[in-house]
Amino acid sequence: MTKTDINEELEYIEKIRKINEGKNLKYNIFTMGCQLNENDSEKICGMVEKMGYTKTENIAEADLVIYNTCCVRENAEEKLFGKLGEVKKQKEARGTIIAIGGCMMQEQHIVDKIKKSYKYDVIFGTHTLHKFPKDLYNAIMENKKITDILDIDGEIIEGLPIKRDDSIRASVTIMNGCNNFCTYCIVPYVRGRERSRNPEDILNEVKSLAQAGYKEITLLGQNVNSYMRVEREKGLCSSKIDSFAKLLRAVNNIEGIEKIRFVSPHPKDFTDDVIEAIRDCEKVSKFVHLPLQSGSTRVLKAMNRVYTKEQYLNLVEKMKEKIPNVKFSTDIIVGFPGETEEDFEDTLDVVKKVKFEQIFMFIYSRRVGTPADKMENQIPEEIKHKRFDRLKALYEEQIEENNKAYIETVQDILVEGYSKTNSDFLTGRTDSNKVVIFEGDSSLIGKVVPVKIVSEHLWYLRGEVL
Ligand code: SAH
Ligand code: SF4
Ligand code: F3S
Repeated sequence: MTKTDINEELEYIEKIRKINEGKNLKYNIFTMGCQLNENDSEKICGMVEKMGYTKTENIAEADLVIYNTCCVRENAEEKLFGKLGEVKKQKEARGTIIAIGGCMMQEQHIVDKIKKSYKYDVIFGTHTLHKFPKDLYNAIMENKKITDILDIDGEIIEGLPIKRDDSIRASVTIMNGCNNFCTYCIVPYVRGRERSRNPEDILNEVKSLAQAGYKEITLLGQNVNSYMRVEREKGLCSSKIDSFAKLLRAVNNIEGIEKIRFVSPHPKDFTDDVIEAIRDCEKVSKFVHLPLQSGSTRVLKAMNRVYTKEQYLNLVEKMKEKIPNVKFSTDIIVGFPGETEEDFEDTLDVVKKVKFEQIFMFIYSRRVGTPADKMENQIPEEIKHKRFDRLKALYEEQIEENNKAYIETVQDILVEGYSKTNSDFLTGRTDSNKVVIFEGDSSLIGKVVPVKIVSEHLWYLRGEVL
């Protein structure tokens, strides 16, 4: 179900704007977690800027501080409590308004802890993002603390204002929630069940981005290649675009867009139509994120990933056959409960075989409420860290090897702007998401240019514009 009638909620933006008028108020936002959260933060910024706040990176001068939280691993939680501890004094000194939203607020024990030990004005969750203006208004007017969390799945909200971070690359969320319940993962509990946005709304958003000059689109969701599956099965999708493969083809037809990426797909949903759409659509990146999590069939089963080591490797082979020059990135968790040395070696074995271009490596983190947290055979921290270091060493060896293959090749690079670390150079990425820096002038920004790679430096490549 889609909710487009949010005028009542949005009226509060105008009400707050009137209160704020002439006050030159500033806001600061701190975003944790994945690209979905970053995209949500762009919507929060859109709402807040319409209320008359301007953004500041300096928290000390902020009148409104917003935390958009993540709870996928424990270190995210520790970070938030550190930040809330710091901002407490500022609130006492100058009445800074504190708003806390996002995934972590969907966890009751966290909300309880904040209420008990920290200062805040508004707490909102993943299903109540669009109600933030109303909640903030009530907090300001009534000078009381507002907690607005919904346990049931929020509707898909269309029509929120958005203030994007970039002017060339944009993210478009195509679905909310997750139905997979991998046993280690908190996401299905804090983001709710899988529900897809209408294809027409997605395509209209991409079209208006293209008109505004955006060149690269990343389609976002926790399981993008099951886009519209639930709706299809329930007979709720009236559009002809009722699958991820069809959506990719439709986005590919939008004029002005040069590159299309997507995260995250699940290996179990890589049906042939998706593989063929990647192959056929010239704008769709041939760099596929294929989350492995573990290379051991036994561990994969305990994780509820519903594929085996062999099925994963077969899928990689099939994609290599069907999609010329396809390359892969992945997510891997080390130290899942019960992971033996042999299981871990299976993970290393898959890494050696696939030679991923990019690996996001995580140490298993116990999450309250997930099945894996209750498993008895938890792995000692020391072993987890040792395995992590071994995986990292193998990965770095492979990056060097992979990077060498780029030297002397010519890559089409969408120029993103000047490098943040060295402003003498322009920067962009290869199709496989490797950062390339090269000399050139600002007229190239936003264009796709051929760049010859001349040297490699572990985390980036040096090139020359041809
Ligand atoms: N839906 C996406 C991303 C989920 S979160 C997917 O399935 O790929 C991003 C990554 O965080 C996951 O892929 C997983 O590798 C990691 N992760 C999730 N829960 C974790 C936990 N409890 N401990 C450590 N890493 C975790
Ligand atoms: Fe978590 Fe698994 Fe869903 Fe990804 S697919 S969000 S890892 S439950
Ligand atoms: Fe974190 Fe929520 Fe994303 S838990 S990884 S911000 S969906």
